[in-house]
Amino acid sequence: MKMVFLRELEPDQIIGKSVYNNDGKLLIKSGTKTTREVINFLRKSMVFFVYVEDDALDDIKINEELDKVKINTLNKMPEVFDELLTGDEKSAEKSIDIIYNLVDYIVADGSTNINLYELKSYDEYTYIHCIDTGIMACFLGKSLGYGGERLKALSVSGILHDIGKIKIPSEIINKKGKLTEEEFNALKLHTQYGKEIIEKYKTFSDNVLKGIYEHHEKYDGTGYPLGLKGKEISEFARIISICDVFTAVSANRSYRKRFTPNEAYELILSGSGSSFDPDIVQKFRMTFFVYPIGSCVKLSNGAEGYVVKQNESFPDKPIIRVTYDTVTSQPISPYEVNLMENLNLVIKEVI
Ligand SMILES: [Fe+2]
Repeated sequence: MKMVFLRELEPDQIIGKSVYNNDGKLLIKSGTKTTREVINFLRKSMVFFVYVEDDALDDIKINEELDKVKINTLNKMPEVFDELLTGDEKSAEKSIDIIYNLVDYIVADGSTNINLYELKSYDEYTYIHCIDTGIMACFLGKSLGYGGERLKALSVSGILHDIGKIKIPSEIINKKGKLTEEEFNALKLHTQYGKEIIEKYKTFSDNVLKGIYEHHEKYDGTGYPLGLKGKEISEFARIISICDVFTAVSANRSYRKRFTPNEAYELILSGSGSSFDPDIVQKFRMTFFVYPIGSCVKLSNGAEGYVVKQNESFPDKPIIRVTYDTVTSQPISPYEVNLMENLNLVIKEVI
């Protein structure tokens, strides 16, 4: 809920707290939707401010719900990967149901206002990375006009894109520091292994397979395993490669500092045309913001708050509701600051 002065009150907002006049008479009940008539009535009744429901908070609730579904899927991922190694069609179908559950949730209720930046560090990096890549691919696919079975297939391909890593020695996967040429060549085989694991099943379409096999191809032809170029690379793989890189650099690893959301975003934009398909990068720009609504952030002046609104075309300069002052260590009466109008203020970190 937030306080709004009557002069700023607009139609189609929901009154969050009932309003009474000085005699205690109810003027308007909480839950009422504002219309021009309601606003005029309140004005005539000499009401100066009201409390209204806050969309930003609804978005935060949606994020929490997605987090729950995500954790649930995450817990089942070791089982999903193991089952897929058996080569048994029935096991594959069972695994797919677990993934479909997550995808169904995203398709039905998910908002693109998700936090793509990994806030917590998990032990099972590979699994969380797979799920985040799948979720992001699902949102990006939706933006590209995908729906139904095709969108599900894309998300499954995103979640399973690195399944071949199961066959790579863990010393290479978890090595801190730079890989030797030999180790890197061994790591590169994970796309081939992934293809071999998945192609055994009738359940998976050719598109799912290509998403897995080609996710390290680059738009300019310098990727692997085949060195495919431009639209020779399947569309699934062109989508997944963007999501893969973004979620990988946004994650905390023991051997390197993660990119800030801004740096990760810039990395994708700068790879347009070289690593990534420019048309899909353009869609990426239109789909995701650097700091989604509800992200808790710390500003360069020490104030803390959360994102309540975006400035279109300026994905790293949202509007922040400041609620806490770290200099005085005190909560403060909330106020909003627009980073587009205060260019000396920047987001220092996500908290
Ligand atoms: Fe990979």
